[in-house]
Parts: sequence; structure tokens; C-alpha cells
Amino acid sequence: MELLQAIKGRRTIRRFKPEPVPRELLERLIQEAMWAPSAMNTQPWKFIVLTGQARQGLIAIAEGCIDQLDERMKTLFNEKMRGMVRGYFRDCGGAPAIVAVVSSLPPEEVYQKGSLFSSCAALQNFLLLAHEAGLGACWMTGPLWVEQAILSYLGCPDWGLVGITPIGWPDQSPPVPPRKHETIEWRD
Ligand SMILES: Cc1cc2nc3c(=O)[nH]c(=O)nc-3n(C[C@H](O)[C@H](O)[C@H](O)COP(=O)(O)O)c2cc1C
Repeated sequence: MELLQAIKGRRTIRRFKPEPVPRELLERLIQEAMWAPSAMNTQPWKFIVLTGQARQGLIAIAEGCIDQLDERMKTLFNEKMRGMVRGYFRDCGGAPAIVAVVSSLPPEEVYQKGSLFSSCAALQNFLLLAHEAGLGACWMTGPLWVEQAILSYLGCPDWGLVGITPIGWPDQSPPVPPRKHETIEWRD
């Protein structure tokens, strides 16, 4: 797949078929995603793949922030949309796997940002590679409301949570959200 085609064609997917994703495929995509650049070449990311009971346990924790998110959503979405988001938090759209991405955090705040940005680059690589492989995914930071509980559950209490990413075979073809290209500025 052409790079531009992958960048423009990738969509956030929130409904999945029940078929599992082969472990070897996920392993390969993650290995390739980790070719991302990183601050001072620290490669600070860790990808944790959760299926079965481990996946259920994570969803049970993430569900704990629906009320906080709903407050924010009231200012952004109509009731139908909010209902969909609440439902999605309860089952992650039936995704057979969830990939949690965490980033090691050095003590200095300025380096913490570099670490998180690096891991974001790796996660975006992963989303594009997953799309190229015919998979769909949804990078989620809504669960940051319960970041510490998730990190403890993952056994990484001192790391930063970059996102939890339900992944699987898409069962929807969402419309393309319009882009806001006016954020480019040229200054000579
Ligand atoms: C950092 C980040 C956090 C996101 N968090 C959530 C989330 O918590 N829940 C969710 O349903 N979608 C989440 N999304 C997906 C966005 O809603 C989605 O990318 C956006 O609507 C544009 O759609 P597209 O990805 O199909 O282009 C997140 C995306 C990013 C990049």
C-alpha cells in the first residue's frame, strides 16, 4: 500500500468482527511499528497485547471513567453520540484484542514529554501498519481518567499510558471526518 493511501485511508474503527487476530501478525506489526524515531534513541515504548480474560479485566477498569467522560462529552456531542461512546467503553466494539502502549518515564518532566511523544510515533506507525494489514483499531486516551489503575493492572505503575487500542477485523466502514488544514502557518 502507498504511504499516502495508508495515511489517508486509515480510519478509527469502533466495531469489530469476533474472529481473533493471529498472534504472529500482531507480533510482526508491533516489531515493525517500533522502528519509530525516539528522543535520544531511548525507544521508551512497551506494547502489551491483551486477549481473553486479560482483555476483560482491562475493559472493567476503563469502564470506570464513563461518568467523567460523559461530563466532557455533554459539551461536544449529542445524546445519540454519547450513548454510542458509553456503549463502546463497555465492550470495545467486540475487538478480540486490546493493545496497551506504555512509555517509560524519566524523572525530568522535559524528558517525560520526549518519551511520550516517541511512543506516540510508534503507536501511529502501528495504526498505519494495522490498516495496511486489513485490521482496524481505535487509539483511546479517554481511559486516562483511570490511568493509574490501568498502569497498576498492567504491572507498570511508574510508566505513562499512551493509549489503549482495541484492534481486530473491521465490521464497519466509517465516513471520513473532515480535516482542518487551516492550522498550517508559513512565516518568512
Ligand atoms: C490521542 C488520541 C486519543 C483518542 N482517544 C479516543 C478515545 O478515547 N475514544 C475514542 O472513541 N476515540 C479516540 N480517538 C479517535 C479519534 O476520535 C479519531 O482519531 C478522530 O475522530 C478522527 O477519526 P479518524 O481516526 O477516523 O481519522 C483518539 C485519537 C487520538 C489520536
